[in-house]
Amino acid sequence: MSKRYPMPIPFGWFAVAYSDELPPGKSKPVHYFGQELVLFRTESGRVALLDAYCPHLGAHLGYGIHENAGGGGRIEGESIVCPFHAWKFNGDGFCTDVPYATNFPPKVKDKQCLRTYPITETNQLIWAWYHPDEAEPLWEVVEHEEANSDDWAPLERYEWQLNTHPQDMAENAADPAHFLFVHRTASMPEWETTYDGPCSRGVQRAKMPTPRGEVDGAIHTGSMGPGQGFTRFEGIADTFLLGLVTPVDEENVHVRFAFTQPRVNGEVKGGGVNAAIIANIVGQLEEDAPIWEHKTYRPLPVLCDGDGPIAKFRKWYGQFYVDFDTSKL
Ligand code: FES
Ligand SMILES: [Fe+2]
Repeated sequence: MSKRYPMPIPFGWFAVAYSDELPPGKSKPVHYFGQELVLFRTESGRVALLDAYCPHLGAHLGYGIHENAGGGGRIEGESIVCPFHAWKFNGDGFCTDVPYATNFPPKVKDKQCLRTYPITETNQLIWAWYHPDEAEPLWEVVEHEEANSDDWAPLERYEWQLNTHPQDMAENAADPAHFLFVHRTASMPEWETTYDGPCSRGVQRAKMPTPRGEVDGAIHTGSMGPGQGFTRFEGIADTFLLGLVTPVDEENVHVRFAFTQPRVNGEVKGGGVNAAIIANIVGQLEEDAPIWEHKTYRPLPVLCDGDGPIAKFRKWYGQFYVDFDTSKL
């Protein structure tokens, strides 16, 4: 079968779990970046993401029967214990114990034997840096007050598994014309996008009709690399959205949308316009999804003068690939 997309998996920081999904002493099998992986948090609280297959006889470190590890490899102190023969590995990918051997196997003595991924934790999420050549992180995860402060409501979470490439999803922001036809907006939204290194930012200002007359609304969009998108909606109901796209493999993504709105006198405001704005944004993704899942990718597409800055967007996105001829985007 021919490949659906010419482009590979982009590099960057990607959300791999919410922090509260991984308490100390828990492991979790995950499949991202075309790899079988195991995510765990040690007893002291450190998070690690390792390639899943044990260097001994190949067991997946994330699948076992131990109840106290939620079915995955058990955690002992700072190490995960392989469910097959109990070899232990720490968060740096080093073997720390082979419980039944008289001599520690020299092949794994004092050397890294499992690939690790740089991890950071902020915005109530665990982030992993993926780079095909294992290059060190080239930028940081942006911290958002909205996702780190008690002045904002707990994150309201949505997620999808979609059969698409993250670049095709992100192209939405450079494609105002589809809003008329897919999202049935009354007019084509107009916004200015600026690209600066791995960062892109856009702002859209609009008059929003309300029962009490028009209010000035604004939508500020931003992304830092291919995995971290953030949008702030101001006007009718102040809303902050983390739009997180994590590659599962070359043609599948795990999408998480996490919303929060400011508390009013300490109270979470649900219902009404607050709920309506979230439902509208979630609805927009669901309107796009069938298009993304079934479309093909057109390199060097035929465009018209009403289209957005598709070529400029693709050139910007091309910086997140290695070993790929970006003149073909
Ligand atoms: S396969 Fe992991 S300890 Fe044997
Ligand atoms: Fe869309």
